[in-house]
Amino acid sequence: MWVFGYGSLIWKVDFPYEEKRVGYITGFSRRFWQGSTDHRGVPGKPGRVVTLVEDPEGCVWGVAYKLPTGREKEVKCYLDYREKGGYRVITVNFHPRTSVSPTTNPDTSQDPSQALLYIGSNDNPNYLGPAPLELIANQIVDAVGPSGRNTEYLFSLAEALRTLLPEDSDTHLFSLEALVKDRLKCTHNRNSNTLY
Ligand code: SIN
Repeated sequence: MWVFGYGSLIWKVDFPYEEKRVGYITGFSRRFWQGSTDHRGVPGKPGRVVTLVEDPEGCVWGVAYKLPTGREKEVKCYLDYREKGGYRVITVNFHPRTSVSPTTNPDTSQDPSQALLYIGSNDNPNYLGPAPLELIANQIVDAVGPSGRNTEYLFSLAEALRTLLPEDSDTHLFSLEALVKDRLKCTHNRNSNTLY
């Protein structure tokens, strides 16, 4: 059993796995459109975390994990609990990254395999949907939940993707990261000015 992670499952790996592969899925785009009241926000003041939205042109990079043989059910139960804030499980085709481009050396291309993924679709109670990037940035700056600040979630995801997947140009994610860093800088400058 393989599970494809595109959000916190990329950088917060608190579950056992047997093997890990970097790769992508198609037909979706990653968006900060899912509300979080159990990890990065609280009821009444939700944070924003990622979900996938259908997009025929879309391609989402992430990491697939092979759950330990014989312990699949146990680990999946843990992941179901961790991702309980509105996510459901679907099956997708996962394309592992090849070390050599399949166009230059077709022998090294790997077939796609099936993987589970957690998705917060638009009918779940925590779904927030689209909003102007500036408003999403403000909400992320202000939100904090039992797992920590919402900004930590955003920065950890952006950093992990930059490190693991320099080929990924997720403009939604990286523009949001820049906006939030800007907001924090402004707040910091305002606060240091009021000291004098
Ligand atoms: C995932 O990481 O694949 C699901 C969304 C999240 O927990 O951030």
